[in-house]
Amino acid sequence: DIPSLCDKYKNYFKIGVAVPYKALTNPIDVALIKRHFNSITPENEMKPEALQPYEGGFNFSISDEYMDFCKKNGIAIRGHTLVWHQQTPSWFFQNPQTGEKLTNSEKDKKILLERLKKHIQTVVGRYKGKVYAWDVVNEAIDENQPDGFRRSDWFNILGPEYIEKAFIWAHEADPKAKLFYNDYNTEDPYKREYIYNLIKSLKAKGIPIHGVGVQCHISLNWPDVNEIEETIKLFSKIPGIEIHFTEIDISISKNMVEGDDMYNRSLLIEQAKKLEKIFNVLKKYKNVVKSVTFWGLKDDYSWLQGDFPLLFDKDYQPKFAFWSLIDPS
Ligand code: XIL
Repeated sequence: DIPSLCDKYKNYFKIGVAVPYKALTNPIDVALIKRHFNSITPENEMKPEALQPYEGGFNFSISDEYMDFCKKNGIAIRGHTLVWHQQTPSWFFQNPQTGEKLTNSEKDKKILLERLKKHIQTVVGRYKGKVYAWDVVNEAIDENQPDGFRRSDWFNILGPEYIEKAFIWAHEADPKAKLFYNDYNTEDPYKREYIYNLIKSLKAKGIPIHGVGVQCHISLNWPDVNEIEETIKLFSKIPGIEIHFTEIDISISKNMVEGDDMYNRSLLIEQAKKLEKIFNVLKKYKNVVKSVTFWGLKDDYSWLQGDFPLLFDKDYQPKFAFWSLIDPS
């Protein structure tokens, strides 16, 4: 039998996987999930567009199924995500009467803040005690802006205040859930500085934030594993902050894998070596790194089609990347 990945790392951190709902209805997928993972992130099913497609039209049938599945199998759930500039229905940002885009007038701000509050209270409240960690705010930093804030509808209408409010309301709805700020390219020295400053300032203001989510969508070429360590070092300087690796995948670029099998094989080995190095770093920081999630179960399920970025191939076979975590050299 193939050894269980989450058993192997039980003294370090949770090992998670993002899955689409269809995986929970497929017995082969389910067997693989149950064997290797003790945390699940619904890949799209808890995003605002899934949970509240129109105003007040909450739809929890699928997310409830994740809760049942995880409870039955003793698997933890990461909630993803409450506030984001993508996969959020446009009604959030429209005037309920005229359909026009909300502005940053006091009247419009009030409308959007009410919606933000209602969404968070309803969703987090429903899953109180069931979701152990929430990605409260996703991808709010844009390092190309002088102030570092992404010019999303959230920001354009509300200013940076929306971030604080989101954490406050999520904490009210479930005081025991761990609340995260989640982002990609955290390995970029310039971007991670903005993220660090944001989290530090939220903490300093007493905003209930408990961790930072490092997405870790990376490739063979970027970043160097040292940069991942630098990011962990920087974020862990903030007292009371834990780090979750939330969306790991390591892309092998499409044009690199065309060609003969031996060539593919060497790239897959390179991928495995990189992942092994990353895990060596994560293990070193097990006091702050508490959860490590792969963004997909198998290569053909990945959002990065043709990049072969995950632990299992389309035929459910463990790749070198998987074995490098079971039998590190
Ligand atoms: C992706 C999903 O994997 C895709 O299925 C969907 O079409 C788009 O979103 N950062 C995130 C995730 O925080 O929610 C994204 O997931 C990948 C990038």
